[in-house]
Amino acid sequence: MQKLQQLYEGKAKRVYATDDPGLVIVDYKDDATAFNGAKKGTIAGKGVINNQMTNRFMAKLEKAGIPTHFVQELSERETLVKKVSIVPLEVIVRNISAGSFAKRYGVEEGIVFDAPTVEFSYKCDALDDPLLNTSHALALKLAARSEIETIRKYALAVNDFLKAFWSSCGVTLVDFKLEFGRLADGTIVLADEISPDTCRLWDSQTHEKLDKDRFRRDLGGVEDAYAEVMRRMKEAL
Ligand code: TMP
Repeated sequence: MQKLQQLYEGKAKRVYATDDPGLVIVDYKDDATAFNGAKKGTIAGKGVINNQMTNRFMAKLEKAGIPTHFVQELSERETLVKKVSIVPLEVIVRNISAGSFAKRYGVEEGIVFDAPTVEFSYKCDALDDPLLNTSHALALKLAARSEIETIRKYALAVNDFLKAFWSSCGVTLVDFKLEFGRLADGTIVLADEISPDTCRLWDSQTHEKLDKDRFRRDLGGVEDAYAEVMRRMKEAL
């Protein structure tokens, strides 16, 4: 598979064309941003960890019946994926109050919900990814009703899988963000990444934060936290 011209550069990844129009290569960077790019930094080794962790989860989710864009890991930082057009929704599932939920509703972090919540943000940096509901997404023609239903179903299935997996590693899955894409034939597949950049992961015993909140909140020990969750994942596989 030949890596051709760069198609896109995001905050954490670059995407390259290949000689197959249905496939692209994703290349994970160590760059980290927060607050819509207002805070910038580097997390050494993050690209390798996020690539490997994402691919292991994508392979497992695919086996569990959730279609994904994953094709094949090519190197430490590069992965071959199916080309999709990204549905411009950030799909956030929460099991425990934290982050923007705690802030928006004026509650402390750490409240365990009876059932997971699913929320959508409009993926639009210029507008700072505003929260929206299904009727807003339909009004804006971001996705069809049936696509939103599929996305919600997959997101909750991903939550069931990830929650159980992380629990077996002594890690509590607090919340996470997913993105979905459409293949050329319209099929909805899970895309983007599943990593400490996009999940809140707390040590089950100590509640220590083992994710990007260490970077967002200047808590220190960022690289160690990423390495620790990767170590626990490898041990569990
Ligand atoms: P939030 O509490 O800031 O809304 O974040 C919810 C989850 O989504 C958390 O696990 C971090 C993740 N997330 C991203 O992956 N990308 C983003 O741009 C934001 C704001 C959150």
